[in-house]
Amino acid sequence: MTKKRVLSGVQPTGNLHIGNYLGAIRNWVELQPNYDNFFCVVDLHAITVPHNPATLAQDTYTIAALYLACGIDLNYSTIFVQSHVSAHSELAWLLNCVTPLNWLERMIQFKEKAIKQGENVSVGLLDYPILMAADILLYDADQVPVGEDQKQHLELTRDIAMRFNDKFGGEKNPIFKIPEPLIRQEGARIMSLADGTKKMSKSDPSPLSRISLLDSSDDIQKKIKKCKTDTIMGLNFANDRPECNNLLGLYGILTEKTKEEVILECSDMGWGKFKPLLTDAIINALTPIQTKYNEIMTDKNYLDSVLKEGKEKAESVANITLKRVKDALGYLIITS
Ligand code: TYM
Repeated sequence: MTKKRVLSGVQPTGNLHIGNYLGAIRNWVELQPNYDNFFCVVDLHAITVPHNPATLAQDTYTIAALYLACGIDLNYSTIFVQSHVSAHSELAWLLNCVTPLNWLERMIQFKEKAIKQGENVSVGLLDYPILMAADILLYDADQVPVGEDQKQHLELTRDIAMRFNDKFGGEKNPIFKIPEPLIRQEGARIMSLADGTKKMSKSDPSPLSRISLLDSSDDIQKKIKKCKTDTIMGLNFANDRPECNNLLGLYGILTEKTKEEVILECSDMGWGKFKPLLTDAIINALTPIQTKYNEIMTDKNYLDSVLKEGKEKAESVANITLKRVKDALGYLIITS
């Protein structure tokens, strides 16, 4: 029986934070033996906001190396760079022409990011979810494991695929497979260390708001020491305690303890006692990833070979879908 397919990706903007890991990559690692997996470094998405050309290539290596360091296994998974497979840009254009503008204008992430950029909002930022739809639909992905913030983009992808199928395929001859989002409840939305009501984000100007996967033990200790807490006695999960929910939740995921176990262990503690425990849990989770990452980054030839092979495998799947789409749209195709 052929395995179902998974596709997902992360933008190479700075290194990854623990939200990216717990919301996405950790789940990819768990799922991978049961699926045929494609994980891309979405470098075309990275230029939808102002970026630094001097660091883009290095950041792309960093993310690919982190995928491997976090446990992505090439026996199950293909790792590639989005811009290396031109079908992504091409399908994005084709989908642009069948997607109503107002579907994009509704996207929450666009509105949030656009506010921050004032007059400089690029067309690319608005179009970002179409490129994401192209990423997913090119691979006939069955499942797309992501954090909660990507849910609306996944719904849009499904809407675009259904509209396209309706217009150009029909029930008997669908052009696109309709993908399902895979959003785990646990870790789907890790919050900022500086404000428990805001999502942890790579673009937050304060590095104190997030734990990056490559932070040193000293940095982790400092960040947890300084992170926002509350003044209520005892630690517990409660609706009006966003920071407490986030920090206890993080502790539970990293130590593989249930909510009940965390409450039992921590309810009588103060922050002074809990913070060192959380710090240790984070350091224990990240140290093996960092060790492997440093090893991989010393061998760029190896990384290049992984990405070259990934490009070839990805292209062999993506180009078949692209041809199917072009056929459906009525393009003249000359076979050589
Ligand atoms: P990006 O690079 O912003 O984030 C990568 C992944 O990390 C998840 N994530 C979080 N999860 C939990 N808590 C958080 N605080 C947190 N912050 C981020 C995101 O949900 C995501 O799964 N558009 C996407 C990348 C993309 C993509 C795709 C994903 C492009 N094409 C196709 C899946 C399929 C993005 O910018 O993710």
